[in-house]
Amino acid sequence: MNRKFGYVFVWPLCTRMIHWIIVISFLASFLTSFFHDKFIYHIAFGYTFGIVLTFRIIWGFLGPQYATFNTFMLHASSLKHYFQEKVNNRWRKIHPGHNPASSWFTLIVLFIGYLIVFGGILLYGVQEGCGITRFLNPLYYHYSNVLLTIHQYTSYSLLLWAFIHVIGVLIEQFYHRTNMVFAMVTGYKQCDGIDTKVSAIRNIFVYSVIALVVYSFYFIVSQPENSLTQSRFEPIDFETESPAFYEKCGKCHKNYPPYMLPKESWVKLFDGLENHFGEKITENNISKEMQLDIKSYVLAHSAEYSSRKLSFKTLESLGEMRPLSITKSPYWRRVHHRISNETFKSPLIKDKSNCFACHHGFEKGIFDITFIHIPQ
Ligand code: HEC
Ligand code: HEC
Repeated sequence: MNRKFGYVFVWPLCTRMIHWIIVISFLASFLTSFFHDKFIYHIAFGYTFGIVLTFRIIWGFLGPQYATFNTFMLHASSLKHYFQEKVNNRWRKIHPGHNPASSWFTLIVLFIGYLIVFGGILLYGVQEGCGITRFLNPLYYHYSNVLLTIHQYTSYSLLLWAFIHVIGVLIEQFYHRTNMVFAMVTGYKQCDGIDTKVSAIRNIFVYSVIALVVYSFYFIVSQPENSLTQSRFEPIDFETESPAFYEKCGKCHKNYPPYMLPKESWVKLFDGLENHFGEKITENNISKEMQLDIKSYVLAHSAEYSSRKLSFKTLESLGEMRPLSITKSPYWRRVHHRISNETFKSPLIKDKSNCFACHHGFEKGIFDITFIHIPQ
């Protein structure tokens, strides 16, 4: 028997584990979103968050006592009464399952959590061309900013709700002295009621979901190129696409993918080959015919024709500007603002334009945030 005097066993181990997996996967995906080299963890925690939320909904119908939605107290009058009691009666008795505030909070987490996960999966496909919704990228990349805003605001709002929840628990702990902090650790709540029991079949179900969560996380992180993260953009083989471009424009630096600059920038660049960033490129180096051949290839693949994030974000930020170097675009400056000039000038990098030093595979058009590495 679990019974401790004056306490009810409300949250069995599996429920507590799910609760903490929800907390960890949300917080970890939130925090990892700020670091480019942790992006794969952001995705992995995002997916696990989605899995546990889905489980929690099913548990809301099929779970044990205190977990099901029909035990939730959702009437406005109960909520009002709950807060009135909270203010007026410091030593009130607490309820074994979800009180009206935590009932609402659970629904809020499920609702906003789902918006975050679905928004994230859509954003990953639409903006990055990756993951299970990558097929949406060429159709809807214009909506990237809208999706990004939704994804960010929903995440911040859930963080705010989580903060309110924690404050509520701390008030219970230190003002009402109901020992609430430990309820999600030990499973016991200081109240009257019946201990909860989890049937064998439910246990099998919940532990299978926990195993699935661990496995999915491991699967995504251990092999970053998988069906859940795959990019729709294949590496570009310039050698077969345009041998002249590959050979002549890959002589002094690796090939800059045509999709990184708008048409007019390329036109300017080809018009000014006589003074190409201090280098003199003449017909002796590249024949007129070849220049035209390369130019037509590059123009046909310029930023305007690409749904890659680098292309549409660069175009969007350029406005009327048509610089020769992408490093002049506000988008480029914004994403690199944390990198110091000393880093760019370091012997292994030498120049801002040496994208290839940090973006591995850029010369094959691969542009994935998980392949960024600053050499040191
Ligand atoms: C003689 C050497 C040489 C050749 C040949 C050459 N480039 Fe360059 N290119 C440079 C130098 C030097 C820079 C300045 C940046 C750097 O150091 O990488 C540069 C920069 C660029 C940039 C700007 C990158 C940025 O900052 O956004 C583009 C685009 C570019 N080259 C395209 C081409 C194309 C297209 C061809 C072929 C027609 C070509 N280059 C051939 C030397 C060369
Ligand atoms: C010193 C190394 C370095 C060089 C050189 C460099 N980058 Fe980056 N780049 C980074 C880092 C690091 C990030 C991630 C910044 C962050 O998220 O804080 C990044 C981010 C980006 C992003 C945004 C990626 C995303 O998916 O959000 C783009 C686009 C980009 N770089 C393009 C370029 C291009 C084009 C060049 C060359 C003209 C270049 N970078 C040169 C290090 C570099």
